[in-house]
Amino acid sequence: MNEDKTSHFLIESSDQLPLVTVLKRFPLPRKLGVGKESRIEKGKRWPVPIATASRVKTFEIYRYDPDSGDNPALDIFEIDLDDCGPMVLDALIWIKNKVDPTLTFRRSCREGVCGSCAMNIDGTNWLACTRFIADTDKPATIYPLSNMRIIKDLVPDLTHVFAQYSLIEPWLHSTAPVPEKERLQSPDERAELDGYYECILCFCCTSGCPSHWWNGARFLGPAALLHAYRWLIDSRDEATGERLDNLEDPFRLYRCHTILNCTRTCPKGLNPGKAIAEIKKMIVKRTG
Ligand code: SF4
Ligand code: SF4
Ligand code: FES
Repeated sequence: MNEDKTSHFLIESSDQLPLVTVLKRFPLPRKLGVGKESRIEKGKRWPVPIATASRVKTFEIYRYDPDSGDNPALDIFEIDLDDCGPMVLDALIWIKNKVDPTLTFRRSCREGVCGSCAMNIDGTNWLACTRFIADTDKPATIYPLSNMRIIKDLVPDLTHVFAQYSLIEPWLHSTAPVPEKERLQSPDERAELDGYYECILCFCCTSGCPSHWWNGARFLGPAALLHAYRWLIDSRDEATGERLDNLEDPFRLYRCHTILNCTRTCPKGLNPGKAIAEIKKMIVKRTG
């Protein structure tokens, strides 16, 4: 085939794709191999409660109540856009206040800072408070973060991923005498942490990582490893060797195959895949 004719089919960067294509690129196999009791059933329909509503938007939302003994279900809610704020989180709060008070989700800051409203919106992990309703599908589909045990509705159990985070010892290790004031860094040393310190531990990346789906018991996942790198490059930290020893393991670090789902889904625009690659380089460097 003529190279010139095919070259326009080649995608070299996600910048060349319309955002909607990028967001839909990794649909999740929701029913893949799940037991009968976990199959998602058709749920209840909740019509918009205001008869005069003229701008109505439909949301399909995952519901699960462990106390009911029922399978999870996909409920359909209609939202009055003229009575609701612009973000997906506003829609969830609107539903909770005006339609079904039992709808359960986490949220705190509504500023993209606390990481608690992470969920799967139209097939991509994101923060509900930073996704515009106007940018969602028709209907919008809302699931909890994938590959997590679900406590109720959109609330995942984060016990395991936080235990993995604690394993990298996310605090300063230093035997230097405690200074009277702060431990100083040069502006350049501080700038090294850019792109890493901003992580809000929403776990969108870890939930979207295929290696973590299959080896989540032993592979630390992108969020914990990004933090491990943040401490490895902190000029004030003195435990580089011990930290690398702790990570040099076929599963903890090396189950990352640079698929980069993590980087693609991070709502803060960070690059955990690069952080993991840099840790691998540090290990190679020290072994000569
Ligand atoms: S780059 Fe590594 S950590 Fe990120 S999604 Fe891929 S396998 Fe997971
Ligand atoms: S790296 Fe991004 S996606 Fe992962 S936990 Fe941090 S902020 Fe969330
Ligand atoms: S509510 Fe805090 S990040 Fe969305």
